Amino acid sequence: MTSRVALVTGGTGGIGTAICRRLALSGHRVATNYRNEEKARAWQAQLKAEGIDVAIAPGDVSTAEDAESMVRAVEALVGPVDILVNNAGITRDTTFHKMTSQQWNEVICTNLNSCFNVTRPVIEGMRARKWGRIIQISSINGQKGQYGQANYAAAKAGMHGFTISLAQENAKFGITVNTVSPGYIGTDMVMAVPEDVRNKIVAQIPTGRLGDPDEIAYAVSFFIPDEAGWITGANLSANGGQYMGW
Ligand code: CAA
Repeated sequence: MTSRVALVTGGTGGIGTAICRRLALSGHRVATNYRNEEKARAWQAQLKAEGIDVAIAPGDVSTAEDAESMVRAVEALVGPVDILVNNAGITRDTTFHKMTSQQWNEVICTNLNSCFNVTRPVIEGMRARKWGRIIQISSINGQKGQYGQANYAAAKAGMHGFTISLAQENAKFGITVNTVSPGYIGTDMVMAVPEDVRNKIVAQIPTGRLGDPDEIAYAVSFFIPDEAGWITGANLSANGGQYMGW
């Protein structure tokens, strides 16, 4: 397998950590961004103790200026980005009639604008080198909607619109663009949902359990090898059977 350079945004989070780990164990050079240096350095040291190297660069992906300087720092540390996983995301859950413009904007900027902000500085290099993999980490709730998540569902559905347009524009350049839509995974983000609400959600999952972050990392890794070059514009659901729309 060819060793590539991978940038995973939000790599220090639950799903992000599993993606960084799996890509590094597959032989790729991996980097992520951070906003909190102390937390990121501790995370990096923990992976290092497992024998996994992940480069880290400062930058808030919700702003174009930060994202661009973060990408340039990553290039200086590990080389030009071949694989981009747009994974960074937050929730600000509340019913829409109570939602503030701040709760709306924070989610749209971090989850959706980040795709523009980070992909824009890497796409020209991928096109020039005639190879690339761009993977959006969306959500089951972008596919089916969710009570209390008008902001999040709008951003996550928007991510797949981004995927299918970029897929068309970049297919001739050896670049595939795909979406992975996780269901409810046992991360801090999902564990922050009130327990009674969460138990009702788990009861709707045919597998009867939350997903494991590595089950999402596996779905991401599926899109990366050269033999996945014909697969572009896809939206891969990984949700334990909770939503089977097609
Ligand atoms: N369908 C219908 N009614 C619902 C409902 C649902 N799914 N969920 C809540 N309700 C009802 C309640 O029964 C209650 O009704 P009554 O007032 O008649 O008793 C009412 O809505 C409560 O409404 P409020 O506006 O008072 O809501 P709240 O302030 O109590 O909290 C909430 C609402 C924030 C949305 C809370 O229910 C919640 O956290 N829900 C979970 C949202 C969720 O799934 N988030 C996912 C986070 S993880 C993630 O995002 C990762 C991923 O990609 C999957």
